[in-house]
Amino acid sequence: MRTVKVNASTPYDILIGNGLLDKCGELCAKVIKPCKVCIITDDTVAALYLERAERSMQNAGFLVKSYPFPHGERNKNMDTIVRILEFLAEQRFTRTDCLVALGGGVVGDMCGFAAAIYLRGIKFIQIPTTLLAAVDSSVGGKTGVDLKAGKNLAGAFHQPSLVICDYSTLDTLPPETFADGCAEVIKYGVINDRPFFERLAGGIRAQIEDVIAECVTNKSRVVEEDEFENGTRQLLNLGHTIGHAIEACSDLTVSHGSAVAIGMVIVTRAAVRLGLCPEEDLDALVDMLKRESLPISCEFNAAQLAVAATADKKRKGDYITLVVPYSIGDTRLYKLPISHLAEFIRKGL
Ligand SMILES: NC(=O)c1ccc[n+]([C@@H]2O[C@H](COP(=O)([O-])OP(=O)(O)OC[C@H]3O[C@@H](n4cnc5c(N)ncnc54)[C@H](O)[C@@H]3O)[C@@H](O)[C@H]2O)c1
Ligand SMILES: [Zn+2]
Repeated sequence: MRTVKVNASTPYDILIGNGLLDKCGELCAKVIKPCKVCIITDDTVAALYLERAERSMQNAGFLVKSYPFPHGERNKNMDTIVRILEFLAEQRFTRTDCLVALGGGVVGDMCGFAAAIYLRGIKFIQIPTTLLAAVDSSVGGKTGVDLKAGKNLAGAFHQPSLVICDYSTLDTLPPETFADGCAEVIKYGVINDRPFFERLAGGIRAQIEDVIAECVTNKSRVVEEDEFENGTRQLLNLGHTIGHAIEACSDLTVSHGSAVAIGMVIVTRAAVRLGLCPEEDLDALVDMLKRESLPISCEFNAAQLAVAATADKKRKGDYITLVVPYSIGDTRLYKLPISHLAEFIRKGL
Protein backbone atom coordinates (compact mmCIF):
# COMPACT_ATOMS: atom_id res chain seq x y z
CA MET A 1 0.00 0.00 0.00
CA ARG A 2 1.22 3.49 -0.86
CA THR A 3 0.41 6.62 1.11
CA VAL A 4 0.35 10.13 -0.32
CA LYS A 5 -0.07 12.92 2.23
CA VAL A 6 -2.09 16.00 1.35
CA ASN A 7 -1.27 19.07 3.44
CA ALA A 8 -4.47 21.01 2.72
CA SER A 9 -6.20 23.18 5.35
CA THR A 10 -7.24 19.85 6.88
CA PRO A 11 -4.45 17.34 6.12
CA TYR A 12 -5.35 13.81 5.03
CA ASP A 13 -3.88 10.68 3.50
CA ILE A 14 -4.55 9.02 0.18
CA LEU A 15 -4.05 5.26 0.46
CA ILE A 16 -3.46 3.37 -2.78
CA GLY A 17 -3.40 -0.41 -3.00
CA ASN A 18 -4.81 -3.64 -4.35
CA GLY A 19 -7.69 -5.03 -2.27
CA LEU A 20 -8.10 -2.11 0.15
CA LEU A 21 -11.91 -2.23 -0.11
CA ASP A 22 -12.09 -5.21 2.21
CA LYS A 23 -10.00 -3.30 4.75
CA CYS A 24 -11.79 0.03 4.40
CA GLY A 25 -13.34 -0.28 7.88
CA GLU A 26 -10.04 -0.70 9.71
CA LEU A 27 -8.43 2.02 7.58
CA CYS A 28 -11.28 4.42 8.39
CA ALA A 29 -11.10 3.51 12.08
CA LYS A 30 -7.56 4.93 12.14
CA VAL A 31 -8.84 8.42 11.28
CA ILE A 32 -12.40 8.57 12.66
CA LYS A 33 -13.85 7.40 15.96
CA PRO A 34 -16.54 4.69 15.93
CA CYS A 35 -19.73 6.41 14.70
CA LYS A 36 -22.61 6.08 12.32
CA VAL A 37 -21.56 6.13 8.67
CA CYS A 38 -23.70 6.48 5.60
CA ILE A 39 -22.24 4.96 2.44
CA ILE A 40 -23.39 7.07 -0.49
CA THR A 41 -23.09 5.19 -3.77
CA ASP A 42 -24.86 4.61 -7.07
CA ASP A 43 -26.87 1.55 -8.11
CA THR A 44 -24.15 0.15 -10.40
CA VAL A 45 -21.39 0.41 -7.80
CA ALA A 46 -23.73 -0.82 -5.07
CA ALA A 47 -24.34 -4.07 -6.97
CA LEU A 48 -20.59 -4.62 -7.32
CA TYR A 49 -19.02 -3.37 -4.09
CA LEU A 50 -21.47 -2.15 -1.46
CA GLU A 51 -21.72 -5.39 0.50
CA ARG A 52 -17.96 -5.67 0.87
CA ALA A 53 -17.69 -2.07 2.02
CA GLU A 54 -20.56 -2.47 4.48
CA ARG A 55 -19.12 -5.67 5.92
CA SER A 56 -15.69 -4.16 6.45
CA MET A 57 -17.12 -1.02 8.07
CA GLN A 58 -19.36 -3.10 10.38
CA ASN A 59 -16.47 -5.35 11.38
CA ALA A 60 -14.51 -2.25 12.36
CA GLY A 61 -17.30 -1.16 14.72
CA PHE A 62 -19.19 1.38 12.61
CA LEU A 63 -22.99 1.50 12.49
CA VAL A 64 -23.59 1.40 8.75
CA LYS A 65 -26.43 2.87 6.67
CA SER A 66 -26.35 3.04 2.88
CA TYR A 67 -27.89 5.34 0.33
CA PRO A 68 -27.63 4.23 -3.31
CA PHE A 69 -29.05 6.54 -5.98
CA PRO A 70 -29.43 5.96 -9.74
CA HIS A 71 -26.06 6.27 -11.51
CA GLY A 72 -25.09 8.94 -14.01
CA GLU A 73 -24.28 12.62 -14.39
CA ARG A 74 -27.99 13.41 -14.84
CA ASN A 75 -28.54 12.62 -11.20
CA LYS A 76 -25.74 14.89 -10.00
CA ASN A 77 -28.22 17.57 -9.03
CA MET A 78 -29.92 19.31 -6.15
CA ASP A 79 -32.88 16.87 -6.14
CA THR A 80 -30.57 14.00 -5.27
CA ILE A 81 -28.79 16.14 -2.68
CA VAL A 82 -32.08 16.97 -0.97
CA ARG A 83 -33.01 13.27 -0.87
CA ILE A 84 -29.63 12.42 0.68
CA LEU A 85 -29.96 15.19 3.28
CA GLU A 86 -33.51 14.11 4.18
CA PHE A 87 -32.30 10.51 4.56
CA LEU A 88 -29.47 11.61 6.87
CA ALA A 89 -31.88 13.65 8.97
CA GLU A 90 -34.43 10.80 9.17
CA GLN A 91 -31.66 8.46 10.25
CA ARG A 92 -30.58 11.07 12.86
CA PHE A 93 -27.04 11.53 11.67
CA THR A 94 -25.19 14.00 13.91
CA ARG A 95 -22.14 16.24 13.50
CA THR A 96 -19.82 13.50 14.76
CA ASP A 97 -21.03 10.98 12.17
CA CYS A 98 -19.47 10.47 8.77
CA LEU A 99 -20.31 9.90 5.11
CA VAL A 100 -18.45 7.57 2.76
CA ALA A 101 -18.43 8.13 -1.01
CA LEU A 102 -18.19 4.74 -2.72
CA GLY A 103 -18.10 5.30 -6.47
CA GLY A 104 -16.96 7.54 -9.26
CA GLY A 105 -16.77 11.30 -9.53
CA VAL A 106 -20.53 11.75 -9.52
CA VAL A 107 -20.87 9.94 -6.19
CA GLY A 108 -17.80 11.69 -4.76
CA ASP A 109 -18.92 15.18 -5.76
CA MET A 110 -22.39 14.66 -4.36
CA CYS A 111 -21.41 12.87 -1.19
CA GLY A 112 -18.80 15.57 -0.55
CA PHE A 113 -21.33 18.32 -1.11
CA ALA A 114 -23.90 16.64 1.16
CA ALA A 115 -21.15 16.33 3.81
CA ALA A 116 -20.23 20.00 3.35
CA ILE A 117 -23.74 21.27 4.02
CA TYR A 118 -25.46 18.69 6.27
CA LEU A 119 -25.52 20.30 9.74
CA ARG A 120 -23.11 22.89 8.25
CA GLY A 121 -20.48 20.25 7.65
CA ILE A 122 -19.66 16.68 8.68
CA LYS A 123 -16.71 14.46 7.81
CA PHE A 124 -16.53 12.29 4.74
CA ILE A 125 -14.25 9.66 3.26
CA GLN A 126 -13.68 8.95 -0.41
CA ILE A 127 -13.47 5.43 -1.84
CA PRO A 128 -13.05 6.10 -5.57
CA THR A 129 -14.00 3.28 -7.94
CA THR A 130 -13.36 4.93 -11.32
CA LEU A 131 -9.98 5.95 -12.69
CA LEU A 132 -11.19 9.54 -12.98
CA ALA A 133 -12.22 9.60 -9.33
CA ALA A 134 -8.98 7.89 -8.26
CA VAL A 135 -6.67 10.34 -10.01
CA ASP A 136 -8.71 13.50 -9.83
CA SER A 137 -12.09 14.08 -8.26
CA SER A 138 -11.53 12.27 -4.94
CA VAL A 139 -8.61 14.56 -4.10
CA GLY A 140 -8.69 18.28 -3.50
CA GLY A 141 -12.02 18.94 -1.83
CA LYS A 142 -14.05 20.36 -4.70
CA THR A 143 -17.61 19.12 -4.27
CA GLY A 144 -20.86 20.04 -5.93
CA VAL A 145 -23.67 19.45 -8.37
CA ASP A 146 -24.79 20.56 -11.81
CA LEU A 147 -27.53 23.12 -12.39
CA LYS A 148 -29.70 23.28 -15.51
CA ALA A 149 -27.50 26.14 -16.72
CA GLY A 150 -24.31 24.11 -16.55
CA LYS A 151 -21.95 21.72 -14.83
CA ASN A 152 -20.74 22.07 -11.26
CA LEU A 153 -22.40 25.46 -10.80
CA ALA A 154 -23.24 24.88 -7.13
CA GLY A 155 -20.84 23.45 -4.61
CA ALA A 156 -18.39 23.90 -1.78
CA PHE A 157 -14.78 23.27 -0.92
CA HIS A 158 -14.79 20.44 1.63
CA GLN A 159 -11.77 18.18 2.06
CA PRO A 160 -12.23 14.47 2.78
CA SER A 161 -10.72 12.97 5.94
CA LEU A 162 -9.22 10.06 4.01
CA VAL A 163 -9.10 8.69 0.46
CA ILE A 164 -8.95 4.91 0.03
CA CYS A 165 -8.14 3.89 -3.51
CA ASP A 166 -8.46 0.17 -4.21
CA TYR A 167 -7.42 0.00 -7.85
CA SER A 168 -8.66 -3.59 -8.20
CA THR A 169 -12.16 -2.03 -8.43
CA LEU A 170 -11.12 -0.48 -11.76
CA ASP A 171 -11.16 -3.99 -13.32
CA THR A 172 -14.97 -3.91 -13.63
CA LEU A 173 -15.10 -0.54 -15.41
CA PRO A 174 -16.48 -0.47 -18.95
CA PRO A 175 -13.53 0.30 -21.29
CA GLU A 176 -14.97 3.75 -22.19
CA THR A 177 -15.15 4.70 -18.52
CA PHE A 178 -11.55 3.62 -17.96
CA ALA A 179 -10.59 5.70 -21.02
CA ASP A 180 -12.38 8.72 -19.51
CA GLY A 181 -10.01 8.58 -16.56
CA CYS A 182 -7.05 8.31 -18.93
CA ALA A 183 -7.90 11.80 -20.22
CA GLU A 184 -7.33 13.22 -16.73
CA VAL A 185 -4.12 11.19 -16.32
CA ILE A 186 -2.73 12.53 -19.60
CA LYS A 187 -3.81 16.03 -18.52
CA TYR A 188 -1.36 16.00 -15.58
CA GLY A 189 1.54 15.26 -17.89
CA VAL A 190 0.58 18.03 -20.28
CA ILE A 191 0.11 20.55 -17.46
CA ASN A 192 3.47 20.31 -15.74
CA ASP A 193 5.24 16.95 -16.07
CA ARG A 194 6.70 16.04 -19.42
CA PRO A 195 8.70 13.02 -18.13
CA PHE A 196 5.44 11.60 -16.71
CA PHE A 197 3.72 12.21 -20.07
CA GLU A 198 6.49 10.32 -21.81
CA ARG A 199 6.28 7.39 -19.37
CA LEU A 200 2.57 7.05 -20.24
CA ALA A 201 3.60 5.76 -23.65
CA GLY A 202 4.10 2.45 -21.81
CA GLY A 203 0.30 2.26 -21.37
CA ILE A 204 -1.72 3.50 -18.42
CA ARG A 205 -3.27 0.20 -17.32
CA ALA A 206 0.09 -1.57 -17.28
CA GLN A 207 1.44 0.84 -14.65
CA ILE A 208 -1.77 1.69 -12.83
CA GLU A 209 -0.43 1.93 -9.25
CA ASP A 210 2.42 4.24 -10.24
CA VAL A 211 0.13 6.29 -12.44
CA ILE A 212 -2.42 6.87 -9.67
CA ALA A 213 0.29 7.67 -7.12
CA GLU A 214 1.96 10.17 -9.46
CA CYS A 215 -1.31 11.85 -10.42
CA VAL A 216 -2.53 12.31 -6.86
CA THR A 217 0.90 13.52 -5.76
CA ASN A 218 0.83 16.06 -8.57
CA LYS A 219 -2.71 17.15 -7.72
CA SER A 220 -1.98 17.34 -3.97
CA ARG A 221 0.99 19.67 -4.55
CA VAL A 222 -1.20 21.96 -6.66
CA VAL A 223 -4.01 21.89 -4.07
CA GLU A 224 -1.57 22.61 -1.23
CA GLU A 225 -0.32 25.65 -3.08
CA ASP A 226 -3.74 27.01 -4.05
CA GLU A 227 -6.55 25.18 -2.26
CA PHE A 228 -9.30 27.64 -3.21
CA GLU A 229 -8.32 28.02 -6.86
CA ASN A 230 -7.25 31.63 -7.03
CA GLY A 231 -4.14 30.93 -9.09
CA THR A 232 -2.15 27.86 -10.10
CA ARG A 233 -4.94 25.37 -9.34
CA GLN A 234 -6.73 26.79 -12.37
CA LEU A 235 -4.14 24.96 -14.48
CA LEU A 236 -5.92 21.71 -13.55
CA ASN A 237 -8.79 22.96 -15.69
CA LEU A 238 -6.80 22.26 -18.84
CA GLY A 239 -9.29 21.11 -21.49
CA HIS A 240 -12.21 21.69 -19.13
CA THR A 241 -13.70 25.04 -20.18
CA ILE A 242 -14.20 23.78 -23.72
CA GLY A 243 -14.77 20.25 -22.42
CA HIS A 244 -17.68 21.41 -20.27
CA ALA A 245 -19.06 23.23 -23.31
CA ILE A 246 -18.88 19.98 -25.29
CA GLU A 247 -20.65 18.10 -22.51
CA ALA A 248 -23.38 20.76 -22.43
CA CYS A 249 -23.79 20.95 -26.23
CA SER A 250 -24.06 17.14 -26.40
CA ASP A 251 -26.72 17.17 -23.66
CA LEU A 252 -24.27 15.07 -21.62
CA THR A 253 -24.07 12.26 -24.17
CA VAL A 254 -20.32 12.95 -24.53
CA SER A 255 -18.72 11.80 -21.26
CA HIS A 256 -16.58 14.10 -19.11
CA GLY A 257 -13.26 12.43 -19.93
CA SER A 258 -13.98 12.34 -23.67
CA ALA A 259 -14.97 16.00 -23.57
CA VAL A 260 -11.78 16.91 -21.71
CA ALA A 261 -9.71 14.99 -24.26
CA ILE A 262 -11.31 16.93 -27.12
CA GLY A 263 -11.01 20.18 -25.14
CA MET A 264 -7.26 19.61 -24.67
CA VAL A 265 -6.81 19.02 -28.39
CA ILE A 266 -8.76 22.20 -29.27
CA VAL A 267 -6.74 24.50 -26.97
CA THR A 268 -3.45 22.89 -27.99
CA ARG A 269 -4.22 23.21 -31.70
CA ALA A 270 -5.23 26.86 -31.19
CA ALA A 271 -1.93 27.40 -29.34
CA VAL A 272 -0.04 25.85 -32.27
CA ARG A 273 -1.84 28.10 -34.77
CA LEU A 274 -1.10 31.14 -32.58
CA GLY A 275 2.59 30.22 -32.64
CA LEU A 276 2.65 29.52 -28.88
CA CYS A 277 3.19 25.74 -28.94
CA PRO A 278 5.27 23.48 -31.22
CA GLU A 279 3.26 21.30 -33.59
CA GLU A 280 5.10 18.10 -32.50
CA ASP A 281 3.56 18.53 -29.06
CA LEU A 282 0.06 18.58 -30.51
CA ASP A 283 0.90 15.42 -32.47
CA ALA A 284 2.24 13.74 -29.33
CA LEU A 285 -0.93 14.64 -27.45
CA VAL A 286 -3.19 13.37 -30.21
CA ASP A 287 -1.22 10.09 -30.43
CA MET A 288 -1.42 9.58 -26.69
CA LEU A 289 -5.19 10.20 -26.57
CA LYS A 290 -5.79 7.84 -29.48
CA ARG A 291 -3.65 5.16 -27.85
CA GLU A 292 -5.97 5.29 -24.84
CA SER A 293 -9.07 5.10 -27.10
CA LEU A 294 -10.12 8.72 -26.51
CA PRO A 295 -11.80 10.96 -29.09
CA ILE A 296 -9.99 14.00 -30.47
CA SER A 297 -12.78 15.91 -32.23
CA CYS A 298 -16.48 16.72 -31.92
CA GLU A 299 -19.38 17.74 -34.12
CA PHE A 300 -20.02 21.19 -32.61
CA ASN A 301 -18.91 24.44 -34.19
CA ALA A 302 -16.97 27.29 -32.61
CA ALA A 303 -20.00 29.53 -32.07
CA GLN A 304 -21.96 26.79 -30.28
CA LEU A 305 -19.00 25.93 -28.06
CA ALA A 306 -18.25 29.57 -27.25
CA VAL A 307 -21.83 30.22 -26.10
CA ALA A 308 -21.82 27.10 -23.93
CA ALA A 309 -18.35 27.92 -22.55
CA THR A 310 -19.32 31.37 -21.34
CA ALA A 311 -21.76 29.79 -18.88
CA ASP A 312 -18.66 28.23 -17.29
CA LYS A 313 -17.46 29.39 -13.87
CA LYS A 314 -14.03 30.32 -15.24
CA ARG A 315 -15.62 33.45 -16.67
CA LYS A 316 -14.71 36.69 -14.86
CA GLY A 317 -16.67 39.66 -16.18
CA ASP A 318 -15.93 40.15 -19.87
CA TYR A 319 -12.92 37.83 -19.76
CA ILE A 320 -12.46 34.09 -19.61
CA THR A 321 -9.31 32.33 -18.42
CA LEU A 322 -8.26 29.38 -20.53
CA VAL A 323 -5.40 27.01 -19.83
CA VAL A 324 -3.09 26.85 -22.80
CA PRO A 325 -0.12 24.53 -23.41
CA TYR A 326 3.07 26.32 -24.52
CA SER A 327 4.57 22.84 -24.74
CA ILE A 328 3.87 19.49 -23.12
CA GLY A 329 4.80 20.06 -19.47
CA ASP A 330 4.39 23.84 -19.62
CA THR A 331 0.84 25.20 -19.54
CA ARG A 332 -0.12 28.74 -18.63
CA LEU A 333 -3.23 30.72 -17.83
CA TYR A 334 -4.42 32.66 -20.83
CA LYS A 335 -6.90 35.48 -20.30
CA LEU A 336 -9.08 36.15 -23.29
CA PRO A 337 -11.89 38.66 -23.89
CA ILE A 338 -15.16 36.73 -24.23
CA SER A 339 -15.66 38.40 -27.60
CA HIS A 340 -12.52 36.59 -28.91
CA LEU A 341 -13.43 33.15 -27.60
CA ALA A 342 -15.26 31.85 -30.69
CA GLU A 343 -12.31 32.86 -32.87
CA PHE A 344 -9.88 31.11 -30.52
CA ILE A 345 -11.98 27.92 -30.59
CA ARG A 346 -12.25 28.14 -34.40
CA LYS A 347 -8.44 28.02 -34.58
CA GLY A 348 -8.52 24.85 -32.49
CA LEU A 349 -11.08 22.93 -34.52
N1 LIG B 1 -14.43 17.31 -7.70
C1 LIG B 1 -13.50 17.35 -8.61
O1 LIG B 1 -12.42 17.86 -8.39
C2 LIG B 1 -13.77 16.69 -9.93
C3 LIG B 1 -12.71 16.49 -10.80
C4 LIG B 1 -12.96 15.83 -11.99
C5 LIG B 1 -14.24 15.39 -12.29
N2 LIG B 1 -15.25 15.61 -11.40
C6 LIG B 1 -16.61 15.12 -11.69
O2 LIG B 1 -16.57 13.71 -11.76
C7 LIG B 1 -17.65 13.25 -12.55
C8 LIG B 1 -17.19 12.17 -13.49
O3 LIG B 1 -16.72 11.09 -12.72
P1 LIG B 1 -16.70 9.61 -13.30
O4 LIG B 1 -16.14 9.60 -14.64
O5 LIG B 1 -16.08 8.79 -12.24
O6 LIG B 1 -18.26 9.31 -13.49
P2 LIG B 1 -19.35 8.46 -12.69
O7 LIG B 1 -19.22 8.63 -11.24
O8 LIG B 1 -20.65 8.76 -13.30
O9 LIG B 1 -18.95 6.95 -13.05
C9 LIG B 1 -19.06 6.52 -14.39
C10 LIG B 1 -19.91 5.24 -14.49
O10 LIG B 1 -19.15 4.15 -14.01
C11 LIG B 1 -19.89 3.39 -13.07
N3 LIG B 1 -18.91 2.81 -12.16
C12 LIG B 1 -18.24 3.43 -11.16
N4 LIG B 1 -17.31 2.61 -10.64
C13 LIG B 1 -17.42 1.43 -11.29
C14 LIG B 1 -16.69 0.20 -11.24
N5 LIG B 1 -15.67 0.05 -10.41
N6 LIG B 1 -17.07 -0.79 -12.07
C15 LIG B 1 -18.08 -0.61 -12.97
N7 LIG B 1 -18.77 0.54 -13.10
C16 LIG B 1 -18.43 1.55 -12.26
C17 LIG B 1 -20.84 4.37 -12.46
O11 LIG B 1 -21.98 3.72 -11.94
C18 LIG B 1 -21.17 5.27 -13.64
O12 LIG B 1 -22.22 4.72 -14.37
C19 LIG B 1 -18.19 14.47 -13.28
O13 LIG B 1 -19.41 14.83 -12.68
C20 LIG B 1 -17.15 15.54 -13.02
O14 LIG B 1 -17.69 16.84 -12.99
C21 LIG B 1 -15.02 16.24 -10.24
ZN1 LIG C 1 -12.15 16.62 -15.17
